[in-house]
Amino acid sequence: MAGQAMSKQGAMAAALVAVLFSLSSASPVQWGQLDPHFYEHSCPQAQQIVASIVGKAHYQDPRMAASLLRLHFHDCFVKGCDASLLLDSSGSIVSEKRSNPNRDSARGFEVVDEIKAALEAACPRTVSCADILALAARDSTVMTGGPGWIVPLGRRDSLGASVQGSNNDIPAPNNTLPTIITKFKLQGLDIVDLVALLGSHTIGDSRCTSFRQRLYNQTGNGLPDRTLDVSYAAELRPRCPRSGGDQNLFFLDPVTPFKFDNQYYKNLLAYRGLLSSDEVLLTDSPATAELVRLYAANQDIFFQHFAQSIVKMGNISPLTGVNGEIRKNCRRVNHS
Ligand code: HEM
Ligand SMILES: *[C@@H]1O[C@H](CO)[C@@H](O)[C@H](O)[C@H]1NC(C)=O
Ligand SMILES: *[C@@H]1O[C@H](CO)[C@@H](O)[C@H](O)[C@H]1NC(C)=O
Repeated sequence: MAGQAMSKQGAMAAALVAVLFSLSSASPVQWGQLDPHFYEHSCPQAQQIVASIVGKAHYQDPRMAASLLRLHFHDCFVKGCDASLLLDSSGSIVSEKRSNPNRDSARGFEVVDEIKAALEAACPRTVSCADILALAARDSTVMTGGPGWIVPLGRRDSLGASVQGSNNDIPAPNNTLPTIITKFKLQGLDIVDLVALLGSHTIGDSRCTSFRQRLYNQTGNGLPDRTLDVSYAAELRPRCPRSGGDQNLFFLDPVTPFKFDNQYYKNLLAYRGLLSSDEVLLTDSPATAELVRLYAANQDIFFQHFAQSIVKMGNISPLTGVNGEIRKNCRRVNHS
């Protein structure tokens, strides 16, 4: 039974990738230095291999799609999409996995390892770990019901990591909206990209520690966040007490937690965004609020903007040509 469902998942994923691939004749301009056909001759089966392992992982753990999507974001925001996130600490390298945004919450690294091992068996030293993250993010979105897009490829892997970059460049859940907008702008991403990409929080989980402040003492006056629905706050408090339970998990979108849809924006309109950084999109700027309303009303536009913006995010400072390397193991540089 289980095996049957699993292979059906894999076949569906492969078919979808094939359809997307055959559509890839659009303008190359938006792809920057990257190219969707990059592995066409060197590893024609690369996309199918990634999709089938993501499909299997998603079948075994319904949260995994969210976790893989987040890895692409946390990779791209630190020194560009170069798989710096995937390096373990070793020698002079201090792993980004130790940074505040990643420690105790970034997951999915074993799935990336499994994809890398399968790709090394099929086409040794060919497909980068950074491209694995970009493909896995797309497949994860498609498998949870979201939009598909053509993934520009040809990124290479970094020779180092930046735990400091990870702490500073990835927005925190209690950052103000202006700070968040600035952090996106530093990556070349605008407010449409910001509001569309945050729609990723339509799937996946957050730990209590990432939003506790909102439940008890948002601004230091001993009161909960005024922009958090009172009954939602009451639902959250039992498993997210004033102290303890830091690691307890909550759905970012409790209405349709495993479905990539526009429910996230509907939640924001009801003051039921889980993180402060989610709700401020509605409450702290008319421009972002207008986009929240647009996406809440029209899922197709959300999907279109999401696909465009994640391709843009995937183009952040890639290493190409002779820069970086193709790692054999995503956790280590080749010669260390
Ligand atoms: C202002 C920007 C953002 C902030 C402050 C933010 C913050 C967070 C936080 C605090 C969590 C929960 C971590 C925990 O367990 O405590 C989370 C989860 C998640 N984030 Fe974001 N995020 C942002 C943007 C994005 C973007 C751009 C994406 C994808 C393109 C993304 C995808 C996800 C996903 C899918 C999860 C769930 C992961 C899982 O269940 O394993 N986030 N985010
Ligand atoms: C944001 O959260 C961090 C980590 O919990 C905390 O150290 C910091 O004081 C918070 N910042 C604000 C403005 O509340
Ligand atoms: C709320 O936070 C402020 C500033 O961090 C602190 O002085 C105060 O004691 C806190 N109040 C409560 C009720 O926890």
